[in-house]
Amino acid sequence: MNLRVPSIRHDDCDELSALCKAGGDPLRLNVLRALANDSFGVLELTHIFATGQSGMSHHLKVLSQAQLVATRREGNAIFYRRALPHTELLGGKLHAALLEEVDNLTLPADVQARISAVHGQRAAASQDFFSRIAEKFRAQQDLIAGVPQYRDSVLTLLDKQSFSPAATALEVGPGDGSFLPDLAQRFQHVTALDNSSVMLELARQLCERESLNNVSLLLADALHDAHLQADCVVVNMVLHHFAAPADALRQLATLLKPGGSLLVTELCSHNQAWAREACGDLWLGFEQDDLAHWATAAGLVPGESLYVGLRNGFQIQVRHFQRPAGDTHHR
Ligand SMILES: C[S@@+](CC[C@H](N)C(=O)[O-])C[C@H]1O[C@@H](n2cnc3c(N)ncnc32)[C@H](O)[C@@H]1O
Repeated sequence: MNLRVPSIRHDDCDELSALCKAGGDPLRLNVLRALANDSFGVLELTHIFATGQSGMSHHLKVLSQAQLVATRREGNAIFYRRALPHTELLGGKLHAALLEEVDNLTLPADVQARISAVHGQRAAASQDFFSRIAEKFRAQQDLIAGVPQYRDSVLTLLDKQSFSPAATALEVGPGDGSFLPDLAQRFQHVTALDNSSVMLELARQLCERESLNNVSLLLADALHDAHLQADCVVVNMVLHHFAAPADALRQLATLLKPGGSLLVTELCSHNQAWAREACGDLWLGFEQDDLAHWATAAGLVPGESLYVGLRNGFQIQVRHFQRPAGDTHHR
């Protein structure tokens, strides 16, 4: 007798019901809300929602099985972020609609306060790092990627934009100022904004050495007390030091004049956890899609990108995003 093993048929209903089940719980909906612009580890989420770790792990597993969240390894830690809906696939439209509704939820005040506390801890760790490393800054940067490795790529994208002779530039987080001479040459006026007085002093010394007369230095936090606008905002290797990079992109977009260009140089996602200790990195690079998604959510239009592979195995992404010229409303 010829016994045939029945082939297992994947049932589409299973996928849809997993999605409905995952969305059918208030805590899971709030987790999705909290992940709208951020990614958190399981311990952070446990703290934010004041719940037990095993309960939170269970909820994350259900969300993950329904493909509502995706994971990303950062060294030894696993971070959860929202998965992007694929509306062309089964369940994709339901997924997109669920997120749209979730985004209208307001998180309870105590949850919001604990999210701010997590952001505060991340930001303090980053600021503390830069106040301690001034003397060995260059060597530290060169462990992964220094300006010489990505200067030409940033300039290639920069020079493809047609800025007027009166255009202004803002560099956020200039570090020791290595990129300022290139900006000073191309723009009528350049502002270099950093929240570390130690780093700003290094930039000041470089401006003096190079006689850069059209550069102003500004001690300020790019995310909280920057109130200027420029035609071009350059952010080289800074985003991975921000506590909440998606929110940061939204804030950086407000620093652009209508029609202005945001140039972001960043590491691509990597798994070299030692960079946290050695270079004060809060994030181990970024997925290309995440950057584009966050920029789009901030009202910017993704433009051209260049990628630079380094001999040490890291990959750099240089990204151009534009604020539409017609976007003249005040943000
Ligand atoms: C890794 S360094 C990059 C320096 C330089 N752009 C380069 O590529 O060599 C990051 C810089 O961002 C600054 N920074 C970090 N968080 C900031 C914030 N919230 N506002 C302004 N500057 C910040 C740090 O002080 C430091 O100078």
